[in-house]
Amino acid sequence: MATRTSKPLGVITRGTTHPNRLRRVDRWINYVTAPDLRATSDPLAVDLGYGASPWTARDLRDSLRKVRPDVRLVGVEIDPERVASAQCASDESLSFIRGGFEVPTPTSPLILRAFNVLRQYDESEVAAAWSVMTSRLAPDGWLIEGTCDELGRHAWWVALRAGDCEPRTLTFSTRLAGFDRPSELAERLPKALIHRNVPGEPIHEFLTRLDAAWAAAAPYSAFGARQRWIATVESLRADGVPVQHGSSRWKLGELTLPWNVVASRN
Ligand SMILES: C[S@@+](CC[C@H](N)C(=O)[O-])C[C@H]1O[C@@H](n2cnc3c(N)ncnc32)[C@H](O)[C@@H]1O
Repeated sequence: MATRTSKPLGVITRGTTHPNRLRRVDRWINYVTAPDLRATSDPLAVDLGYGASPWTARDLRDSLRKVRPDVRLVGVEIDPERVASAQCASDESLSFIRGGFEVPTPTSPLILRAFNVLRQYDESEVAAAWSVMTSRLAPDGWLIEGTCDELGRHAWWVALRAGDCEPRTLTFSTRLAGFDRPSELAERLPKALIHRNVPGEPIHEFLTRLDAAWAAAAPYSAFGARQRWIATVESLRADGVPVQHGSSRWKLGELTLPWNVVASRN
C-alpha cells in the first residue's frame, strides 16, 4: 500500500453511525493519551471514517477537550458526499476533509481513531492499513482502531503507537448487564481477530478462560454485575493473565490485554 498518491487509500463503505456511539473508546482514549495530549504543542486528533453524519467526530472533539481545551479535530472520510454534508458541522476546532488511510492532514495527528472502518475490509488488508496510518502519526502518537455494536454498548479496539506495525494492546469494553457469557461479544471483535476466534487460536483460548472466570464469579452477582466483573478480571490476573490497569477501569466493564496474549501465531 503506497502512502503518496492523489487517490485516497481505501474504499467507500457503509456509513452507519450514531451519536455517542463511541463513548466507551473515547473514555479510554482520554485515559491513556492524557499525558501525551497535555504535553504536545500540536493537539491534533483525527476521526478517520466518521461515516454518514459527523456525530462521532464532534463527540471525540468534545471528549478530548476535557483534557486539552484547545484540541483540534479533523474528520477524514473517503466518501466526498459525506465530506460535503459534514461541512455544516464544522467550526474553529472541527473540520472535515476527504481522504483515506494516508491521513492527508497538514500536520501529523497525535490521536487517530478509526472505528467501524476496517471491519468492512478484508482481513488481509488490515496490517497494511495499520502501517500506513501509524506512519502518519506524530512521534508520540496513538492509533486506536476497533469495532462496536450499533449503539456502542459493546466495543473492542486495538492501540498502536507511531511507527508500529502491530498493536500493543487489545481492549474490550461492555455494558455489563447485556450478556450471559462474555464470549457472546466476540461478534464485535476487530477485523484482525474476528476470523481467529476458533479452537487453537490465542483469542479463542482467552475467551474460553474469560467465560470460565465469569461463571466462577457468579456468586458475586448478589453484589451486582460490576462486582462480578471485577472478581472475574482479578481471578484472570491471579491466574497469570497480564490484564492491565486496575479496578477503576475494570468497574467500567473494561479489560485491556497486551496484544501478544491474543495475537495469532500463524
Ligand atoms: C460504518 S462507518 C463508521 C462511522 C463511525 N466511525 C462510527 O463508528 O460510527 C465507516 C465509514 O468509513 C469510511 N471509510 C472506509 N474506508 C475509509 C478510508 N480508507 N478512509 C476514510 N474513510 C473510510 C466509509 O466511507 C464509511 O463512511
